[in-house]
Amino acid sequence: MRLAKSIFGSDGRVLLAAGTELNERFINRLIELGINGAYIEDGITEDVLVEDVISDRTRLEAIHTIRSIMEDIDLEKCVDEEAREKVKVDLARSAVSKILDDLSLNRDLIVSLLDLRTYNDYTFSHSVNVTILSLVLGVALSLNELEIRDLGIGALLHDIGMARIPKKMYLKPGPLTKREYEIIKEHPKIGFDLLKWNQDISLVAAHIAYQHHERMNGSGYPRGLPGERIHRFAQIAMVADVYDALTSDRSYRKRVLPHEAVEYLMGGAGTLFSLKVVEVFVKHVAIYPIGVMVRLNTGEKGVVAKINKPLLARPVVKIIYDKDGNLLKEPKMVDLSKEFTLSIVEVLEG
Ligand SMILES: [Fe+2]
Repeated sequence: MRLAKSIFGSDGRVLLAAGTELNERFINRLIELGINGAYIEDGITEDVLVEDVISDRTRLEAIHTIRSIMEDIDLEKCVDEEAREKVKVDLARSAVSKILDDLSLNRDLIVSLLDLRTYNDYTFSHSVNVTILSLVLGVALSLNELEIRDLGIGALLHDIGMARIPKKMYLKPGPLTKREYEIIKEHPKIGFDLLKWNQDISLVAAHIAYQHHERMNGSGYPRGLPGERIHRFAQIAMVADVYDALTSDRSYRKRVLPHEAVEYLMGGAGTLFSLKVVEVFVKHVAIYPIGVMVRLNTGEKGVVAKINKPLLARPVVKIIYDKDGNLLKEPKMVDLSKEFTLSIVEVLEG
């Protein structure tokens, strides 16, 4: 097995380069690092191009930025007053600009993301994913340039309060105690307190940090605000936050698949989440990302090869196995947006 895409650490270093022959030692190392999958060259799915809405480079720089911002203000390194002064807003701003530049090259604005990452870096890659998703939603909802930038900064810094929570708590494997959960639930308020003083950050961005765990029906935290008191940018960031959290492996549970996360969001649309935001979300995030293996109602199995807009649930699938599980000599492409009798019935992991 050869690696089809390079795997990077959150510091931007290449952990394993594309083209590397994977042996048992490498695979064990990846598992140790908490990497939950990899793109493999298999000679069959070569023409399935896995492209992200933003480049690897932009993503890695952004992860590096949020990591350095949060590590600088780590609870163990400084007291609250110092932390406030140390938030490097200009770095956050330039990371958001670069993501926006990349997004502007991707006219379709469809996020098709099979995310592979190390879970120790969860907070950092999560912050970047929430930023990408929020920005895509913000653009789709026709926010203006200034609003988009505020949304991006707020999304990137939404969990900044976590830097002031003892690490042993949120990196703890297994379930949290009630007390630990109460402490973690303080991170939105802590984040707001870190940002609200800052002249270089709009108050709206600070409120995204404060309100991203609120829910439209008032069941969220820290204040249990009702929907009409939750800023519309926080309404965007919360959907992005929930989607990315659900589709990520955590120390206490396994990730769910994109279509399951989308079902959860649709189930909560109008009660937990803004209906409008969820409606836009499902139009811009591929429920069957490129590269996932699926089973069709015919029993055939294949890999999602191309997303069809706006029919995200009906992509082009490259069929590799027939209904009896035999490898096809010649894989065939089927376009579910044209063949209405065919449908995806299952997503196969691995
Ligand atoms: Fe959070």
